[in-house]
Amino acid sequence: MPHDIVFSEQANELADIAREIADKHVRPLAAKYDKAQEYNHEAAKAVAEAGLFKTFVPKEYGGHGAGVLALARVTEELARADSGFGVAFAVNALGSFPIILGGTEEQKQEWLPQIARGEKFVAFCLSEKFAGSDAQGLSVTAVEDGDEYVICGEKKWTTNGGVADFYSVFCVTDPTSKSRRISAIVVEKGTPGFEVKKVEDKMGIRCVPVVETHFDNVRVPKANLIGGRPGMGFKHAMMTLDYARPGVAAQAMGAAQGALDLANVYANRRKQFGAPISSHQMVQQMLADMAIETTAARWLVYSAAAQIDGQGPGPEASKVAAMAKCYASDVAVKVATDAVQVFGGYGFMEDYPIAKFFRDAKILQIYEGTNQVQRLVIARHLIREAADLAHLGEYIPEESQLTYGPAEEAEVVANHNTPT
Ligand code: CAA
Repeated sequence: MPHDIVFSEQANELADIAREIADKHVRPLAAKYDKAQEYNHEAAKAVAEAGLFKTFVPKEYGGHGAGVLALARVTEELARADSGFGVAFAVNALGSFPIILGGTEEQKQEWLPQIARGEKFVAFCLSEKFAGSDAQGLSVTAVEDGDEYVICGEKKWTTNGGVADFYSVFCVTDPTSKSRRISAIVVEKGTPGFEVKKVEDKMGIRCVPVVETHFDNVRVPKANLIGGRPGMGFKHAMMTLDYARPGVAAQAMGAAQGALDLANVYANRRKQFGAPISSHQMVQQMLADMAIETTAARWLVYSAAAQIDGQGPGPEASKVAAMAKCYASDVAVKVATDAVQVFGGYGFMEDYPIAKFFRDAKILQIYEGTNQVQRLVIARHLIREAADLAHLGEYIPEESQLTYGPAEEAEVVANHNTPT
């Protein structure tokens, strides 16, 4: 059953603060950091000082414990100004969820308060060169040696890499096991042998670094094994993605709203045929569709987030998170594309802010699980749910039982006998 969407006073306050920071520190600098492909430290500092990193951290560990819905609201506001900064914020939740959902009490006590205070940033190292959608096909290894694990290999597409202080790294700890092959281990920046090697040159979200992380015999204490029990890594990764995907969906929905806002302002200003283009019906139709789809995405995202807050991890969380991520990111790409169309030739030029929205949107359909993976996850759930709907089968005749009724039989005979 869907959960009621209830915005707590705290969630509203956090969203208001995020909007103020977005207006003051994010939007005015978005083009600069996009061009330079540099991190917006000033905005991140403002986010930390305002306590927004506390949003997703439980109260017991110094956070607000405001939940996934509040996380979505904050991410939406930041992404509305700059989608790249939206993920620069939300990826800290992605990197923290393995600890929040799977960590031991001691691990939570040690790491989460520093994250909540915004003193330490986090990254999530799952993907590798040859393991993207196939998240079980990892090759980075962590081998036990006394009280330590020794990690070797390379991770790809680590968002926030270099900026982050803690890295939740998914490693193979038991190559012989099928279902308990992987474990998640926290690696701290500065650990000998751990290096950021390639900083990617990207089409969009250029203000947040995406890097390769290399592990050359990196020694970490066994105490850094998330949950304290090896083999739980794949489950922790999947649960984490269920909790984090509404954040990407919120980033997408914020980005769609940001693109729509700009297209709306421009359509009212730009004159063609002696009138603002917003008075032309074909432009009106585009703006109206953009608004409908963005609003539909918004409520799907809020509903998924409320469901996860209400019910916790499980199959329903997995399904609704995938739905929200998939739909909202498809909407963001369509709305950003249409926004460029409203800007016409100027939309294609980097002099105008809308080209960036277009470039930033595409990754939303790819990271934190491609939209093909989201549809696969949703379809798997639907197929399982079909068992509970078995009673409807009596209304669906078996093909082998189909026979002509008397009326149709008479008609067939009559047609057959009609001379041509
Ligand atoms: N919660 C808990 N456990 C889960 C789960 C979930 N949501 N989904 C699966 N599991 C468990 C299963 O129950 C099963 O457990 P047992 O072995 O005990 O039976 C085990 O995990 C394996 O499950 P599956 O057989 O379903 O696994 P699969 O290999 O078929 O999974 C997949 C396929 C769904 C495509 C999965 O690999 C996947 O989600 N891939 C996408 C990975 C991804 O999203 N990567 C994004 C990287 S992060 C990123 O992009 C961040 C960034 O830069 C910002």
